[in-house]
Amino acid sequence: MQNELLIRAAFAARENAYTPYSHFKVGAALLAESGRVYTGCNIENAAYTPSNCAERTALFKAVSEGERHFEAIAIVAGKEGCTDFPITGPCGVCRQALYEFGGKKLRVILAKSETDYQEMTLGDLLPYGFGPQDLAP
Ligand code: THU
Repeated sequence: MQNELLIRAAFAARENAYTPYSHFKVGAALLAESGRVYTGCNIENAAYTPSNCAERTALFKAVSEGERHFEAIAIVAGKEGCTDFPITGPCGVCRQALYEFGGKKLRVILAKSETDYQEMTLGDLLPYGFGPQDLAP
């Protein structure tokens, strides 16, 4: 799947972000090895702590549908109403959550637009990450 299509899906998911507290809207699109794309947005809560990031929304949707292996994730973020999107990296908790299933090789696409983006790996974003291999016998 082309990066552009994944970014487009992330922008569409961002439209559904529920952000009455931060007004910061995030969209993510996660490409599974099966070829299916799972999207997610951030979902905030009046009690703050139960809020969920876009990346984990997408990941948990996918895993709950039986997916276990992923190739890439596109992330778009910005203040409500913004038109000039900044490059925004995933928070530390989302890096760790993705590492469990994507590992070092997961391609992470941080996008300002469909054609203006930076691509890196999860290993770049989470060096020396702790994962399932660390618990292996
Ligand atoms: N947020 C995400 O959805 N993903 C990230 O990786 C960073 C932060 C959300 C959480 C909260 O709803 C808002 O952005 C402001 O922190």
